[in-house]
Amino acid sequence: MKIFLDTANLESIRKFNDMGLLDGITTNPSLMSKEDGNPKDIMAEITKIIKGDVSLEVVSTEYSGMIEEGKRLRQYGKNVVVKVPMTPDGLKACKHLTSEGIPVNVTLIFSPNQALLAAKSGAKYVSPFIGRLDDIGKDGMNLIKDIKKIFDNYKDDFQTQILVASIRHPIHVIDAAKIGAHVVTLPPAVLDKMLQHPLTDIGLENFLSDWKKLKTGI
Ligand code: E4P
Repeated sequence: MKIFLDTANLESIRKFNDMGLLDGITTNPSLMSKEDGNPKDIMAEITKIIKGDVSLEVVSTEYSGMIEEGKRLRQYGKNVVVKVPMTPDGLKACKHLTSEGIPVNVTLIFSPNQALLAAKSGAKYVSPFIGRLDDIGKDGMNLIKDIKKIFDNYKDDFQTQILVASIRHPIHVIDAAKIGAHVVTLPPAVLDKMLQHPLTDIGLENFLSDWKKLKTGI
């Protein structure tokens, strides 16, 4: 399973990239708005740090604007994936950009039908938002199961990858991996939690205090 970081924060991106954990990055306008600095410089820097796919999102809501913005975003790097919303114009832009060799991530997916249609339009990734479904009392993970089943049924027709988005905690990651989703995109706080275990900390503390008793170096 690929791990993407769901952030535009350069410090977090460098931190986890240096550990070899990151296959890509996803951003959206809300994540960009949380960072200080010029968004254009931030987008350019992310595409330099990360070798894998970097999703950068359009803000136009109509077809020609999405195409224009998509092409501009793609100039930040050959690893840029253009993120478009799951709307009729978004799908039209997805088809067009894909036909020009520009990969597309269709975002704001909340139903299996939306995922199916985005795959038909040629999306490289579909981004189902599981946390936001959980927030309104629906089981977000069921959406991932349904999309996986549908894509598996038509393996020869679709190469589209399921990019599980709106992840809130480490259990979401385990469940997505069990289902076989291709990618999870994680807020830095969730990736931090995945690294930690209290028994690791206690074990390390004991090893170090026992070694100290030997009064020698290595
Ligand atoms: C990523 O592509 C999505 O934009 C992001 O995961 C949404 O997460 P949120 O529901 O926590 O805003």
